[in-house]
Amino acid sequence: MRTPIIAGNWKMHKTIAEAIALVREMRRELNEIEGVEKVLCPPFTALAAVAELIRTTQIKLGAQDMHWEDQGAFTGAISPLMLKELCQYVIIGHSERRQYFGETDEGVNRKVKAALKHGLTPIICVGENLAQNEAGQTEAIVSAQVRAALQGLTAAQVKSLVIAYEPIWAIGTGKPATGSGANAIIGQVVRGTVSSLFGESAAQALRIQYGGSVSPESIAEFMTQPEIDGALVGGASLSAAKFVAITRIAAQSKQQGAKNRT
Ligand code: 13P
Repeated sequence: MRTPIIAGNWKMHKTIAEAIALVREMRRELNEIEGVEKVLCPPFTALAAVAELIRTTQIKLGAQDMHWEDQGAFTGAISPLMLKELCQYVIIGHSERRQYFGETDEGVNRKVKAALKHGLTPIICVGENLAQNEAGQTEAIVSAQVRAALQGLTAAQVKSLVIAYEPIWAIGTGKPATGSGANAIIGQVVRGTVSSLFGESAAQALRIQYGGSVSPESIAEFMTQPEIDGALVGGASLSAAKFVAITRIAAQSKQQGAKNRT
């Protein structure tokens, strides 16, 4: 049984003071929710303050990106060595990084290897855009992204990863994918690709999230699906009430979904 994982990607939101206020507002309730791993991914500047606030809780910390080198002349970049002191997770290859910062599949693969080398768990983002979706290219695009991101890894490494399937047309639009639609891509394409490359036991161990307009209203539809192990939440993770509600409903509906299938 895979432990579900709900992560909040704050993107470029929240000053240090605002981050502290948001974490104080959700910390106690979030910490009390059992059966789900809880991860906050604030911007780099707020990582240290948030790390301190959640130090005595079960809540984990993630960064939103990193460089693949340990150190060097890379002005503006943050290395895995720097993150390792603060974080357990790092989001890699988010569609916004790919779209606005020229991130390539090759760069994603380098970052995944660097994260694993330093004991950080990557949350690798994949997903097709609207034009690709409408052209019927979803399977080919997503499968190629998974293949490229995992190139050169061992099956043991793959088991520890988290992949987030985030269809770009569902991000920030208020229009999430359907539960069954996301389940099909996650099961057949993401897990299927991992299975063909690294074997069924690796594919069954790795956790795969859905992301894109996840809200307290839509989370149950995803969590009751057998292949979906959690969510990467954007906008709704900036509200303490919404993020706590999403996490609570995720924990309940995962159990319910499992019960319904037995
Ligand atoms: P929204 O939840 O705001 O659609 O963002 C999803 C996302 O990109 C999370 O990484």
